[in-house]
Amino acid sequence: MSISTARVSLQTLLFLVFTVSGAQKLTITLNKASTIHISNTQVRGCRVCTGPVGSRQCGQSLLLKDTTSVSLLFDCSRPQDVFKVEIVQNIDCTTTWCNGHIIQTDSSYLPLLDFKRTFTWNLKASALTSVKIDFTKTGLRQIHPSEICPDSHTYTLQVPHTTGSVTIGKFCRGGLISNAQILNHGSFSLEVPAGQKLQNGQFDVSVGDTSNFAKITLTFPKGISSSELLSPNYPDSFPDDDEMEWHFQVSDKHKISVQFLKLTEPQCQRKKAEVVYQGEKTEILSLTDHQPYEISGNVSLKLRNCRMSEKGLSLNFKVSTSTIWPEEAEVQVMKDSPKNSAPNSRQPSMLIINLTVVTSFLAIVVIGLLVACVVIRKKKNRNHQTPANHANYSTYVLPGHSDLSTTNADEYHVYTKIDDTLVYSHLLEKVAC
Ligand SMILES: *[C@@H]1O[C@H](CO)[C@@H](O)[C@H](O)[C@H]1NC(C)=O
Repeated sequence: MSISTARVSLQTLLFLVFTVSGAQKLTITLNKASTIHISNTQVRGCRVCTGPVGSRQCGQSLLLKDTTSVSLLFDCSRPQDVFKVEIVQNIDCTTTWCNGHIIQTDSSYLPLLDFKRTFTWNLKASALTSVKIDFTKTGLRQIHPSEICPDSHTYTLQVPHTTGSVTIGKFCRGGLISNAQILNHGSFSLEVPAGQKLQNGQFDVSVGDTSNFAKITLTFPKGISSSELLSPNYPDSFPDDDEMEWHFQVSDKHKISVQFLKLTEPQCQRKKAEVVYQGEKTEILSLTDHQPYEISGNVSLKLRNCRMSEKGLSLNFKVSTSTIWPEEAEVQVMKDSPKNSAPNSRQPSMLIINLTVVTSFLAIVVIGLLVACVVIRKKKNRNHQTPANHANYSTYVLPGHSDLSTTNADEYHVYTKIDDTLVYSHLLEKVAC
């Protein structure tokens, strides 16, 4: 422990742990908005006591509230093995502009670090409205109730229900769940094992929009991804005669597919158990129907239970998303726009005009080149009777240089006259013909 951390804990709270003759004493300072519940999880002779020596009160559990600082005495040497601690805070979201925060910190409860701790936030909305917890920053992923999160931080969302408390789910950090909503009130809690320091974090709380007892929203990233979900109380039964919603958000040009991995059907007394898909259109399917393999765009899945004669409905399902291939999207666009074909027809005719212009130009160039070649050939043929190049000229001139007067004046004249044309024809021969 660093000096500064030690100083902070000394300043903010009085942290005193004594181990005197098999008893442990610790002093904690309470945050005024919270309640602490210390309870014995085993039937063993360890008790928690408060109060001055003369009027000490001891028991198997203790509820602390409306106090600022309290000294606790446990009459055993390792109370952390038998006691668990729950730290409860209330978040009231009954105003229209509710803007609360779930602040995840244990700086005030360091003396309790050795105990298994549960941090619980009780959320309350006005009647018939819902409260929403935003997980956009970290994201959550649902786990099977028997699973343990890799970072030992396990979240649980619970709501009271006419049929008893309902566990919406257990979750770990890091996942596609971007928010959760519960109707009227419920609790969100975080459990950490003994000795595990709490990771700091914050989730915003606001008024929600659902009329179902719970709604979970997943935001899928671009490309291929998937997430597994479980019905409330899994593997036990979904609440009787009620409905829950999952909302899936995707980017443009993405499709969603839903696959039921494990289904237990309820025994229905009244009504039907069914699945409602609500996207661009609404589709109602029975539990045993083949679930939609492809739905494009954002969609809601509502699981609706019947009035059961025997508890039963449970569901484990998988939601996958992927992009709609560009070809598919283009085919759709083309199919969708036969009425817009008039402007399109202008483009091919303009292309034809352009092609005609280019072709004519090329034809003129080719004809020009051909004419040039023919002319040069003719000239070449004629020049074969005279020296055709400089080499010939020199061999021709040099012998006659000694008596230039005898040289044919005409031949010399012809050569000087065609000198330029000769050079030019060589170039043309190389380049064009
Ligand atoms: C799905 O909903 C989100 C949030 O409302 C929105 O940003 C996104 O564009 C929607 N996706 C589609 C394909 O409409």
